[in-house]
Amino acid sequence: MRLLSDATALPSRARAPQFGGFYERLEFLRALIDHPARVSALLPSSPAMAQAIAAQIPSNDGQVLELGPGTGAITKAIIARGIPASRIVAIEYDPGFADLLSGRFPGLYVLQGDAMNLARVLGTPRRSYTAVVSGLPLINFPIEARYEVIEDALARVRLGGPFIQVSYRGTPAIPESREIMARRAAFVWRNLPPGYIWVYRRQPIKTWGHA
Ligand SMILES: C[S@@+](CC[C@H](N)C(=O)[O-])C[C@H]1O[C@@H](n2cnc3c(N)ncnc32)[C@H](O)[C@@H]1O
Repeated sequence: MRLLSDATALPSRARAPQFGGFYERLEFLRALIDHPARVSALLPSSPAMAQAIAAQIPSNDGQVLELGPGTGAITKAIIARGIPASRIVAIEYDPGFADLLSGRFPGLYVLQGDAMNLARVLGTPRRSYTAVVSGLPLINFPIEARYEVIEDALARVRLGGPFIQVSYRGTPAIPESREIMARRAAFVWRNLPPGYIWVYRRQPIKTWGHA
């Protein structure tokens, strides 16, 4: 497999390692201790949150790009929604999570690298994804970096496609502008802590009509 970047593609393993609620939480705790600002949560997304995120993906066609998948709580819900693991590209910074993901989801294309620098990991943008789903702790990054990742991700989705973000804030990670729309799509109580789903899209191009 040839990569356009210095990210590391992990081969999916034939057998998944032991995986369950307790192991998943332990792995999360380990990563939180290793990189507190990057993991930025005590627990993985709940099934309710993960399903609500997967429900925002507009169709089962094409590929999905997942940023910051962690232990794969949202990945699992995307697959349950009808998109096979082989059509999901997952970019995860933490090597332990990346290794665990490739064992847990055979066929998943896991890239261990920095999802805040998509050009470096994925190369030049092409509109090949149906949606981008992000569990990145965007709010912990400077506003310029948030713009950069959302804009780059939106250049990789089909026209009108979404950048779907988990958040614990009622305000968007970047303010709505003439270029990008931000919509609070859902509030999920059954998550610890309860959280929001924000959806960002390119504003439709306005054409001048005749008077
Ligand atoms: C809050 S956890 C969410 C994990 C998972 N999506 C979930 O909902 O349970 C944030 C995840 O983003 C990953 N992450 C943070 N910064 C990253 C970066 N720059 N590139 C790739 N992954 C990153 C962390 O390692 C962690 O897996």
